[in-house]
Amino acid sequence: MAPQLDAYFKQVDSLSDAFIERLRKAVAIPSVSAEDERRPEVIKMGEFLASELKSLGAKVELRPLGKQPHKEHLQLPPVVVARYGNDSKKRTILVYGHYDVQPALLEDGWATEPFKLTTDDKGRMYGRGSTDDKGPVLGWLNAIEAHQKAGVDFPVNLLMCFEGMEEYGSEGLDDFIMEESKKYFKDADAVCISDNYWLGTEKPCLTYGLRGCNYYSIEISGPGQDLHSGVFGGTVHEPMTDLVRVMGTLVSPDGKILIKGIDDLVAPFTDEEKSLYGDIAFTMDNLYESLGSETGLYPDKERTLMGRWRYPSLSLHGVEGAFSAPGAKTVIPAKVTGKFSIRTVPDMEIEAVNELVYKHVNDAFAALGSKNKCRVYLQHAGKWWVASPKHWNFTAAGKAVRHVWGVKPDLTREGGSIPVTLTFEQATGKNVLLLPMGSSTDAAHSINEKLDKKNYIEGIKLLGAYLHYAAEEPMN
Ligand code: BES
Ligand code: ZN
Repeated sequence: MAPQLDAYFKQVDSLSDAFIERLRKAVAIPSVSAEDERRPEVIKMGEFLASELKSLGAKVELRPLGKQPHKEHLQLPPVVVARYGNDSKKRTILVYGHYDVQPALLEDGWATEPFKLTTDDKGRMYGRGSTDDKGPVLGWLNAIEAHQKAGVDFPVNLLMCFEGMEEYGSEGLDDFIMEESKKYFKDADAVCISDNYWLGTEKPCLTYGLRGCNYYSIEISGPGQDLHSGVFGGTVHEPMTDLVRVMGTLVSPDGKILIKGIDDLVAPFTDEEKSLYGDIAFTMDNLYESLGSETGLYPDKERTLMGRWRYPSLSLHGVEGAFSAPGAKTVIPAKVTGKFSIRTVPDMEIEAVNELVYKHVNDAFAALGSKNKCRVYLQHAGKWWVASPKHWNFTAAGKAVRHVWGVKPDLTREGGSIPVTLTFEQATGKNVLLLPMGSSTDAAHSINEKLDKKNYIEGIKLLGAYLHYAAEEPMN
């Protein structure tokens, strides 16, 4: 295998400008799934991927998912499914990624145009979606192209599944995966997802766990329209005042979830587990660098990693309908919707968490004695996932990391969520591996998101090398 990989690696290096160009084109399409008016761009991005795949000789289909639940005027973006190679003597690897991105505005504080890939002199490539998840998705396409141009036989059949609603909770995809598990995905021997990040900036990792995410809204309304605070302040129950109080009962400033019963749902901490955290290449400085501050909750790395991986957290995200522009506007908003989410861990069940949340919010609101109306509801939920890293899929990836980066990767879990990971595992019955490309400083979801050129190019080598090792690793 070594000479083939060498030829492949050389080809990746010589095509690196073309690969960056491909990323530039992808970043230029503002495929923001959360913004209704950008939906055509999300669809355009799916079509861009499909046409790139077609030109590489893959068999591509754009599968419609129908209308968006609760937003019937909006069409969900299609799932791009593709097959490259159909040789029954080869293994089949199913890869998943997402082509939608988080919102981004220059005014948010970006140093460069968010939808224009901009490279600095240190080889950092800035742009929304560069690391999450357009770079990794294109990584698979680039791996195909470099094999072709190097004249190296592609080691596996590659099945691809790229969605356009991941950042919005993967609407519609669960059913699609279940439906296709015995059809389009039936040959899959293993699954690989490249949609997370290294823990630091130096050492690659393989990831075997994710937290789940239950996302909620609390809607408080009363007056028929927004009111002048000079005329009505002091005479009316104000929705914003109620909401701030209710949201303030959810979590304490030191990160403790204040909803009764939540802690009882969390799997107890074991001695065996304790040893896992100490050996991981992660420092408080890594945290501070990616935070851009030293405002961590805990002084030590072990507790910090546990806080990210194995305990739940509750974050307050924002308030729809509240005055948020610069300046001073003396308005009383008539209806406000507070948004928060809970990252869930083993053994928290979605429904059990919902019940506790609804009870807590309704009780907290009732305690205010307000005449306003309060409604709490779930926007979307995805379950946590923890797999076994003692599978040939992980062994193959570990060898690929050693080959490309010269080190043994850490085995990590993640605090973020990729809702369909568990669905792929359950639908195909196969092992799922997370194989990240970017690093902890990439600022996914934040301003100035970037992907280092080195992580992109070596990452393309890594994805290709993984496929070679996965083709040969004895199955266990
Ligand atoms: N790439 C992330 C998932 C991720 C984040 C993995 C951090 C590991 C660490 C993905 O695009 C994402 O952000 N997912 C959403 C899912 C949510 C909407 C259910 C997330 O985690 O917020
Ligand atoms: Zn992502």
